[in-house]
Amino acid sequence: MTEPIWRIGVAGLGTVGAGLLTYLADNPAFAPAGHMAVVTAVSARSKSRPRPCDISELTWFDDPVALAADPETDLFVELIGGSDGPAKAAVEAALKARKPVVTANKALIAEHGAALAALAEDMDVPLLFEAAVMGGVPAVKIVREALVGDEIHSISGILNGTCNYILTEMEATGRAFADVLAEAQRLGYAEADPTMDVGGFDAAHKITILAALAFGCAPNFAAAQIEGIEGVDLLDIRMAKDLGYRIKLVASAERSADGVLVRVHPSLAPLNHPLAQAGGALNALFIEGERCGRIFIQGPGAGAGPTAAAVAADISDVMAGGRRPVFQAPAETLAPFDPIDPSKMMGRAYLRFLVKDEPGVIAAVSETLAEAGVSIESFLQKPTEGAEGVPIVLTTHAVAESVLMAAVERIAGLPAVLDRPRLLRIARI
Ligand SMILES: NC(=O)c1ccc[n+]([C@@H]2O[C@H](COP(=O)([O-])OP(=O)(O)OC[C@H]3O[C@@H](n4cnc5c(N)ncnc54)[C@H](OP(=O)(O)O)[C@@H]3O)[C@@H](O)[C@H]2O)c1
Repeated sequence: MTEPIWRIGVAGLGTVGAGLLTYLADNPAFAPAGHMAVVTAVSARSKSRPRPCDISELTWFDDPVALAADPETDLFVELIGGSDGPAKAAVEAALKARKPVVTANKALIAEHGAALAALAEDMDVPLLFEAAVMGGVPAVKIVREALVGDEIHSISGILNGTCNYILTEMEATGRAFADVLAEAQRLGYAEADPTMDVGGFDAAHKITILAALAFGCAPNFAAAQIEGIEGVDLLDIRMAKDLGYRIKLVASAERSADGVLVRVHPSLAPLNHPLAQAGGALNALFIEGERCGRIFIQGPGAGAGPTAAAVAADISDVMAGGRRPVFQAPAETLAPFDPIDPSKMMGRAYLRFLVKDEPGVIAAVSETLAEAGVSIESFLQKPTEGAEGVPIVLTTHAVAESVLMAAVERIAGLPAVLDRPRLLRIARI
C-alpha cells in the first residue's frame, strides 16, 4: 500500500470507538510511517445517539458487515464486542475482502482466534488485537514480539479492572460484594450484566490469548478453568489480610512437560507482592521466561483513552507494513494445547471452616488434614461476636489439588463443621 492516506472504517462507537475517533480528531497529525490515518466511515446500532465525537461528515453504515466489505475503506477496526454475531461476521467480511483488521475484542480472538488467523494469513492481511488484553498496556506486543527470542514458562496477573476495583473497595470500605458491585454499576465501572467480568470470563479470554501467544499454540478458551469473585466473602478478605495476604482475581497460564494450564480464580497474594499492591482498576502482569527471568508490567487495562491509544498503535503497525503470523507461529501449524489436569497441580491453599465453639474441634480438623496428607503452614482463629460458630482459617504447605479436595470433603463431613469449607488458592507468583 503506497497511498499516503489510509481510509479507516470503524464499527462500534461506544467507549473505545468514540475514544478512537476523539483521539484521531485531537491528533490530526497522527501519521506513523508517513501515512495519514483518516476515519471515513462508521457503523453503530443507532445513528442518532449523541456521541462525544463528531460523525456528521462520515459515511454511515447501518450494517457493520457492509462497512467491513466496503471498497472505499482500506482498514477495518472492529469495536463492537462479543465473540459471535455482528463483530465476528464483520471481521470475517473484512478479511475476505483482503482488508487489514484491528480489533479490541478479546472474546472474539479467544474463542475464534485460530480460524480468524487462518483466514487472515490465507488472505495475506494483518489481524491485530493489542487492545484486547490489558487495554493501554502493551502486553500482546511484549509477548508476541519482544519476547519471541525467549521461552516463556508462565504468565500470571490481574487482567480484569472491574474485579480488581470491587475487591479493592471491599477491603477498603468493609462493604460486601453485592453492595460494591451495585455502586460500581452506578458509577459505570461495571456493566449492567456483570457476568463476563465478575464471573472471571473476561480475564479468561485475555489469559487464553496470552497463553496462545506465549506458547505458540491455538487459543483454547474451552480448556480454561474459571472461577469468578462472586463467592469472595468479606470475612475471607479480612482473615487473609491478618495472615499477610490480599485476595486478587489472578489469571495464569503455565507450561510444563505435561501441557498447559490456563486458569482464573480468586487467589491470595502476599501483601508486599506487586500483584497485591496493584489496587483499584489497575491491571498487572508477570511474565516468566527462561532467559529474561521475571518481567512485570502494570497499567490501565481499560478506559477510552488508553484503549484507543492501543488501537491506534495497531493501526500504525498496519500502516508501517511489517508482517508476522497472527499468533507467532503460522496459523496452519497451530494446535490447541494439551490441558493439564488441575487436580495434579501442586499448590498452597487457604481454608476457612465455620466450626462449633467446643473443645476438640481444632484437633479434629488438624488430624483429618494430617491423615489426608495435608500439612498446615499457619493457623488463625477469630471469635466473631454473636455469630453461630467460630471461623477458623489455615494455610497449607504445597499439596496436590486432588489431595486437598479430598481432605476438604472429609472435613466438611465432621459433625463439628457447620458450613461448607471455603478454599482459596495461594497464588504461585
Ligand atoms: N471499554 C473498554 O475499556 C475496553 C478495553 C479493552 C477492550 N475493550 C473491547 O472493545 C470492544 C468495544 O468495547 P466498548 O466498551 O467500546 O463497548 P460499548 O461501549 O458497549 O460499545 C459497543 C458499540 O458497538 C455498537 N454496536 C453494538 N451492536 C452493533 C451492531 N449490531 N452493529 C453495529 N454496531 C453495533 C454499539 O452501538 P450504539 O452505540 O449505537 O449502541 C456501540 O457503539 C469490546 O470488544 C471490548 O471487549 C473495551
